[in-house]
Amino acid sequence: MAQVNVAVIYYSATGANHRLATVAVEAAKEAGAEVRLLKIPELAPKEAIASNPAWAKHHEETQDVPEVKHDDLDWADAFIFSVPTRFGNIASQAKQFFDTCGGLWAQGKLANKVVSAMTSAQNAHGGQEATLLSLYTSMYHWGAIIAAPGYTDQALFAAGGNPYGTSVSVDNEGNWLQDVTEAVKVQAKRTVEVATWIKKGRGL
Ligand SMILES: Cc1cc2nc3c(=O)[nH]c(=O)nc-3n(C[C@H](O)[C@H](O)[C@H](O)COP(=O)(O)O)c2cc1C
Repeated sequence: MAQVNVAVIYYSATGANHRLATVAVEAAKEAGAEVRLLKIPELAPKEAIASNPAWAKHHEETQDVPEVKHDDLDWADAFIFSVPTRFGNIASQAKQFFDTCGGLWAQGKLANKVVSAMTSAQNAHGGQEATLLSLYTSMYHWGAIIAAPGYTDQALFAAGGNPYGTSVSVDNEGNWLQDVTEAVKVQAKRTVEVATWIKKGRGL
């Protein structure tokens, strides 16, 4: 099988999406991919971070995670994004990062990437599906090939049955309210599998 490079790219204030991302990293490695865990740069002022102990703690604990760079996007055959739901949409940090990618897009370097996405929200019906669909809208503009999990495995039903991507409800401190580990693993492995098909099919 062709070796694929996977960038697992997340934004997380209180840790829920960091946890989703780290599970995806391990599963993608198990599936044979070369994997990078990368965080989207924080934009919030220091005062805002300091005002929320869970946010401040997570911010401090993840200082060593490298920030995503455009070179990482160029390197990767597939992206797995994990981004919190904010007012039914992706966190602005992620949108800001996407908006810096015009140069790569113009060079055609974002086309044909395999993309899958995950999210968290406080409420089960607080916009999880809308967030994933809105992230994928940007990806269509990049020329991505969306590898949604659909209902391809029983683990996806057990995790709430979101066919667009794994989503998890969380408390105020970013703790998962249910264990979606198996669904994340299925999604990450499927992303690697689809990226392998695409890479082989392109003769790369
Ligand atoms: C500004 C803001 C808007 C939010 N909007 C929603 C929302 O629309 N629906 C919802 O269920 N949760 C909402 N939340 C809760 C977040 O989704 C939750 O904090 C996040 O999933 C935690 O992920 P993290 O630990 O990776 O930061 C919001 C939180 C913030 C700070």
